[in-house]
Amino acid sequence: MKEMSLLDGYLYWVLMGVILSVTIFVWKIAGRTNKSLEMSVPRGSSGWPLIGESISFYRGLRSLQPRQFIQDHENKYGPVFRTNLFGRARMVISVDPEFNRYVLQNEGRLFQANYPLSFKNLVGKYGILNVHGDLQRKLHASAANLLKHENLISGFMDDLQNVFTAAMERWQNKGVIHLQKECHKVLLNIMGKKLLDLPPYEDSKEIYEAFEAYVVAILQIPIKFPGSNYTKGIKGREAFIRKVEECIEERRQHPEVIRNDLLTKFLKEESWSNEIIGDFLLFLMFAGYETSSTTMAFAIKFLMDNPQAMKELTAEHDSLLKDNGNRKLTWDNYQAMKFTHCVIKEALRLGSAGQGVYREAKQDVKFKDFVIPKGWTVYVVLVAMHLDEKYYPDPFTFNPWRWQNESSLALSENPWYMPFGRGARLCPGLHLARFEIALFLHNFVTKFRWEPIEDDRICYFPVPTLVKGLPIRLYARN
Ligand code: HEM
Repeated sequence: MKEMSLLDGYLYWVLMGVILSVTIFVWKIAGRTNKSLEMSVPRGSSGWPLIGESISFYRGLRSLQPRQFIQDHENKYGPVFRTNLFGRARMVISVDPEFNRYVLQNEGRLFQANYPLSFKNLVGKYGILNVHGDLQRKLHASAANLLKHENLISGFMDDLQNVFTAAMERWQNKGVIHLQKECHKVLLNIMGKKLLDLPPYEDSKEIYEAFEAYVVAILQIPIKFPGSNYTKGIKGREAFIRKVEECIEERRQHPEVIRNDLLTKFLKEESWSNEIIGDFLLFLMFAGYETSSTTMAFAIKFLMDNPQAMKELTAEHDSLLKDNGNRKLTWDNYQAMKFTHCVIKEALRLGSAGQGVYREAKQDVKFKDFVIPKGWTVYVVLVAMHLDEKYYPDPFTFNPWRWQNESSLALSENPWYMPFGRGARLCPGLHLARFEIALFLHNFVTKFRWEPIEDDRICYFPVPTLVKGLPIRLYARN
């Protein structure tokens, strides 16, 4: 190799010096620009490269103190703080009720739904949470119309009663059940019937099992490799979409067969493509079954922990049964279940089956003394507000009486109580969910007494669930 002359060496060091000065200059300018943005972006911490603060966030959710991560950050930085979760470095968490309401009310204008990529892939291009603008409004209106409370008695009461009765007979024969899993199955049957006129779980296992694999993938942290839950979930999704396509074909070839399901209604009334219908039905099936069935099992667990509440609820339903004789429940009966409505509101608060919602700023949004820059994600953590002792004294205690001064069916207007979200994406299934839970409680407490087989508890990681699935032994009541 040719040796460097003295002059070459001198020039080399001058050049290095120039490069270093330019780099420092550029870095300082960039730093200053970042700093001016940082000053207005909510304060917080970015954690480790790539993983950010995901591990401490999950560790907190998993522990007996699910608010710990949030609480520590809130104490340090305030209720809206910067973080880095799920590979998103440009993210803020908000547990500020006023800001949360503002974010959700401005859906489509200043903010729009933007969920983590793995969730988006599973939900599909036309899964409603991935859709914006006109199509979102149309899909939302269609779901809200189907599920409005006037339609519940005519559209759902008989099917719900039949499915609950059949399931509870099965449970009685078994004697010992894992209630959470059984509630999942019951609601799968109901949604399968209402959406696609599917036969019950036991007679159509293949499609329900594919769907269950899909749900597992949605609810877990995505890790992609052959045979992983995520990969199985994608396959489950494909199987469900194929089933919808088969059903569409079948309905087109045999229009004479009378069916009372949502797919038939869509085909008659809407001009949506098969792809839109498939993704929409898949989302409805998921949203309509997971959260409601989990909340049913939670309600029973909470009642087991609070004998006084159990007693009051049972008395309400025994008296309803006595007054009603063998007649079917009516809308008036449902409205009159005053204590039951308190139980449901409290189970939705303490269980928080819909844990949080994601929004992306469509432009720089100024609020109070901070700015959310365009493209940043706001993670509105509903469960953290629901478990905050500022709003709910003794927040981990199941206390249905805290709702007794609120009108029975109306949902609280408090911005710190949003189990169904708010604004343009307010859950269209909110009436159905509460109706299902009320009917379930009515049937369950009037038919059974029960005792736990093992201690169980709620874990909020990765989504709220009963760790052991609530194993109980049932005894028929006379
Ligand atoms: C306890 C039960 C339920 C809870 C806690 C719950 C919670 C939620 C929440 C928090 C959202 C808002 C998501 C967001 O803003 O990004 C939502 C949206 C939605 N929910 Fe529910 N939900 C429940 C039951 C149901 C049921 C029974 C159905 C239908 C059968 C349903 C269908 C939907 C749909 C279609 C959306 C999307 C609305 C849109 O994006 O326009 N949900 N739900």
